[in-house]
Amino acid sequence: MSKGFLDQAYHVPEGGDTRRLYSEWAETYERELSDNGYVTPQRIAAALAKFTKDPAAPLLDYGCGTGMSGEALRAAGFSTIDGVDVTAEMLDIARAKSIYRTITIADPAEPAPVTPGAYPMIAAIGVIGIGAAPLSLFDELMHALPKGGLFALSFNDHALEHPEYEAKVNEWVDSAAARLLMREYGPHIPGKNLNANVYVLEKA
Ligand SMILES: C[S@@+](CC[C@H](N)C(=O)[O-])C[C@H]1O[C@@H](n2cnc3c(N)ncnc32)[C@H](O)[C@@H]1O
Repeated sequence: MSKGFLDQAYHVPEGGDTRRLYSEWAETYERELSDNGYVTPQRIAAALAKFTKDPAAPLLDYGCGTGMSGEALRAAGFSTIDGVDVTAEMLDIARAKSIYRTITIADPAEPAPVTPGAYPMIAAIGVIGIGAAPLSLFDELMHALPKGGLFALSFNDHALEHPEYEAKVNEWVDSAAARLLMREYGPHIPGKNLNANVYVLEKA
């Protein structure tokens, strides 16, 4: 039986350290998410595949967790995927799948460990929002992209209740620092009646 961490995740205080939650959740994470129809990895992978010019180019799966997102990216045709996450126990499961070229553990108190310009594509799938990484990660990942690079991400309903999440996307687009290629509202975790916006931005 799953311990039902999904409901706990959205009660972690915004900006709090979520490593304890995900380290305890790691073993049952995939079963609980699959049982509830988690579909955002497939939605983002399909969106990114639509806009990329080179699916063999390096793609960073930031907040890769156990690798469910990497599996969806691989199934959509991406072949050079690196993973980063802050939770060792989630990464242990990802590592066993051999989807990722490299796997790096990040410290949430430090800048994101991404070499600027190294990735023409970055995905943050189910990562930025209540119960996971802070909104400041959005700017860090956008700054790490080269000109013309693609950033694909999701904000679920819990994040969308807070105007600052959408405002962050608009801030980049309205200042012409990025072009919004796609914004689509649709299913996230149907078993929990949760939807999400999926975005693809191109850095100007
Ligand atoms: C809901 S899971 C999503 C995992 C994976 N992308 C997926 O689609 O299954 C959120 C992940 O974000 C990670 N996370 C939380 N805070 C983070 C941060 N500051 N930087 C990177 N990853 C973080 C957690 O460890 C967890 O693996």
